[in-house]
This record gives sequence, C-alpha cells and structure tokens, in this order.
Amino acid sequence: MKLGVNIDHVATLRQARYVGEIDAHNAEPDVLAAAEICERAGASGITVHLRADRRHIQDADVFRLRERITTKLNLEMGNTKEILEIALRVKPDDVCLVPENRREVTTEGGLDVVGQLDALRPNVSRLREAGVRVSMFIEPSREQITASHALGAEMLELHTGAFANAQDSDQLAELARLRDAAIFAHSLGLQVNAGHGINYSNIALIRGLPHIEELNIGHSIVARALFTGFEHAVRDMLAAMLQP
Ligand code: PXP
Repeated sequence: MKLGVNIDHVATLRQARYVGEIDAHNAEPDVLAAAEICERAGASGITVHLRADRRHIQDADVFRLRERITTKLNLEMGNTKEILEIALRVKPDDVCLVPENRREVTTEGGLDVVGQLDALRPNVSRLREAGVRVSMFIEPSREQITASHALGAEMLELHTGAFANAQDSDQLAELARLRDAAIFAHSLGLQVNAGHGINYSNIALIRGLPHIEELNIGHSIVARALFTGFEHAVRDMLAAMLQP
C-alpha cells in the first residue's frame, strides 16, 4: 500500500491569513516545502484538490508542485470545463474526479458516475489522450465501479468516509462493503485506491483490505503534524499502514 499525502490543509492555513497574496514574502506555510517533507518521509505521491472556490490550493500551487515534486502529482477535481482546462495544462500524473458542492466543508459523497456518464465521457477521454491516468472517487458500489470501468478510468478511489464516520458493527458493515468493492474492481483490472477520513486509528482496519494500492490521506496527517512535525506525522502513518 502506497501513501499519497493530501496537503490541501497546509494551504487552508496559509489562506486563513494570506488570501490573494500567496507570493508575498511572508506567506506561510509553504505548500511546496510540505510536499518536499512528505516525499522525504516516504510518501509515494502528493495529492491536492483544486476547488472551484479556491478555498485552499491555488492554481499557482498546482503548477509549482508539478515542476518541483519528484514523486507523482494526483490532482483531485470536479468535472468542470474550467478546472479541466487547467488540468490539461498542468498534466498531473493522475486526476481523480470528485463531486464538488460549494457549500460542503469537504467532499461529501462519491461521484455519481452512473448518473453522469455523458458529462464525464468526453473529459475522461481528453485527460487520457493527454497522458493523464484517470481515477473516479466513488462510493463502494458495484454499479459505480462498472460505470467507471466502462468510461475507461484506469483507477478508482473508494470513498472511505462512511466507514470512517461509522462505529462498531456499522463500521464493520462499511468495511465489508469496501472489501467487496475492492475485490470486484480488481477483478475488472482496475487499480484500487481509497481515501477520506482515514486516521491513525482506523488505518488498522483499512490496511487489511485486499487489493488497495494507494491511500490518499490528508486531514489526520496535517492535524498530527501540528504537534509532531510533518515528517513524523507522515512516517507514523506509513508505519501504521505497513504493520502486519
Ligand atoms: N481523497 C479524496 C478524493 C478527497 O476528496 C479527500 C479530501 O480532500 C481525501 C482523499 C483526503 O481525505 P482526508 O482529508 O479526510 O484524509
């Protein structure tokens, strides 16, 4: 299992003070420095979400990360013309298409690939033609997996939010849904990733799932980094992921 660190919330902290001034000499914390630390600590990739409202990551961050990081760049984005054009200029290694709603605090549900086939198809094709690998951030449902596969996505990211928010037997039921989805997606030849709400406790259950190649984790790592430093926080998560 590889780790992609989502560094959106490094930018959230910067934007709390330096809206519109990310090039100011005193604008901090530096998103690029965070990415470099993640890579040094053993992360396999850097993930950012360029939201339509630019509440955290800014366009310039994405272009700079593209130039500077040495692992891979995974751009999370809504399926809109504006962000698609930016993605085609940035050419990240991977794009993960996510649903986006301006009022949400964070991405709430999975992308409804079944219901949006016509809107997704041309944009998935354009990204793939540009050499970008495409992933769909979906609920762990066979219908959504089948539709993503039919669209030509190479990867899926299973939404682990319902699992992360549930407790006890409900959480185990969500874990079983994730397991079934991972096995089904793998049988179709899709790369299976997962993310959302994964933390230092629930990773003990997530790491037992079959066929998961990559986890994208943000909030819990950035939160721990406030106390331990970023490098420790990433190393701790990697150690937790790789425990037998
Ligand atoms: N994967 C996707 C597609 C996301 O939208 C997010 C949240 O930005 C994450 C992973 C990371 O979630 P978290 O911050 O809860 O670890």
